[in-house]
Amino acid sequence: MVLRRTKTKTSQGSCRIWNISILAVVFLSIYNILLTLKLMYTPDCARSPSPALKMPQKAQKCDPPRQSYSQNDPIFKLDLRLGRWDTRLQYKLFDNILVGERFASLSEFHKTCLATQTSLDKIASLIEVSANWNGPISLATFAASDDELNSLLLYILFLRECNAKIREQVSFHFAFPQSQRPRNLNIDFDKLQQMNCANPFGVLQQLVKQYLKGTTKWRTKLPYPQNHLRNLARKNCQSKFVFLTDVDIIPSRNMAEELDAFLEQAVCKGQCAYVIPTYELDDRVRFPPNKTELIRLANKGLARPFHHKVFIYNQFATNFTKWQSSLNEIPEVHISHPVTNFEFLYEPFYVAPDTVPPHDERFVGYGYTRNSQVYEMYVAGYEFLVLSPIFTCHWGLQVKRTRPPWREHQNNLNRKHFDGFKREIFAKYDKDPLHMMSLRKN
Ligand SMILES: *[C@@H]1O[C@H](CO)[C@@H](O)[C@H](O)[C@H]1NC(C)=O
Ligand SMILES: *[C@@H]1O[C@H](CO)[C@@H](O)[C@H](O)[C@H]1NC(C)=O
Repeated sequence: MVLRRTKTKTSQGSCRIWNISILAVVFLSIYNILLTLKLMYTPDCARSPSPALKMPQKAQKCDPPRQSYSQNDPIFKLDLRLGRWDTRLQYKLFDNILVGERFASLSEFHKTCLATQTSLDKIASLIEVSANWNGPISLATFAASDDELNSLLLYILFLRECNAKIREQVSFHFAFPQSQRPRNLNIDFDKLQQMNCANPFGVLQQLVKQYLKGTTKWRTKLPYPQNHLRNLARKNCQSKFVFLTDVDIIPSRNMAEELDAFLEQAVCKGQCAYVIPTYELDDRVRFPPNKTELIRLANKGLARPFHHKVFIYNQFATNFTKWQSSLNEIPEVHISHPVTNFEFLYEPFYVAPDTVPPHDERFVGYGYTRNSQVYEMYVAGYEFLVLSPIFTCHWGLQVKRTRPPWREHQNNLNRKHFDGFKREIFAKYDKDPLHMMSLRKN
């Protein structure tokens, strides 16, 4: 009896093992078939946008796998009660709130860091900037309410998730005004899951629409601290040279590598700033892949010097006629010509070591922000050398519009500050090459 029972037990046992094996084989086969099907039908997700990305529909066609966020995410280390103050205790600045995975190593490898700044509404330009610029990018951002900050962070996380180049290259910084300080971090991660990587511009439009609802009124009164943000972005660059731009200024392709080759052998006696010419482009064209194509567009009226119609002094001294006329150029980056007719209000985008004077933070909002810094460089004795065949572009042919009153108001305040600024510059350098001290009677 004992024996029989054991035998039955054993045969029952082997039967169960047999069943389990069959189940396992069936399960594995089905799993295998499913995996094969998944591989066959998953579209090939490009991790980064196409280089010519401009319109939303040219972006990625599918979502990359979503990360899951936890309370350990670096973004939660952002403590809004901390940060460092600007000199007037009006703004609080936070360095490196999210750091590109390769930002540090790219900074060691490349000679130039692209430093730039933006508010939420323009941040999507970063997609195109990072598509063309393969070096490190230091981006300062600004938000002035809980809603705006949380939308901004949400969108930055979205960009980092959907775009490998942004995730790797960009280090993000952040500033807020003491008078409108955000207090609560409350990122809507459920919303993040629903944001569509294929449509970054549409996603941004939605976000901006929501946060603008309650904030339009004070936003026109609250000036955007351009120069604080420029300094924040500049000082977080780790490479020897800095290329400071506005976020919607798109560098020509592979500029970081081309500048590496140029700066390797560039000899500068004294103090040099390398000017990169800036054009504005008709919205209907594709981003020109090279200078030849840019000039072809310019000859057809589809591209022209930046702010040519709005404010010609802005870039006039760069001498685009001369830059465009050089025929049979070498393809390597070289100095096309020096700026010989420097004039007040010239504000080129340039590459220089970050020992250039800071952007004066008494200028807040619009007016005298970049050109006052370039003016100081000129008085300090910097030489401006125009490079070719690299360039930058801004989308849209700009036409003169009447300034909104709030912008006129900011400009007037800054004009008053400039009177003090120019006297300080005169006292500091004991030079007045543009006769600024004798121009105004009062
Ligand atoms: C410049 O771009 C145009 C348009 O894509 C192309 O046809 C041409 O070969 C390029 N020229 C050079 C020198 O690379
Ligand atoms: C531009 O260069 C041309 C040719 O060298 C020169 O005649 C002209 O004065 C320059 N213009 C400016 C604004 O520098």
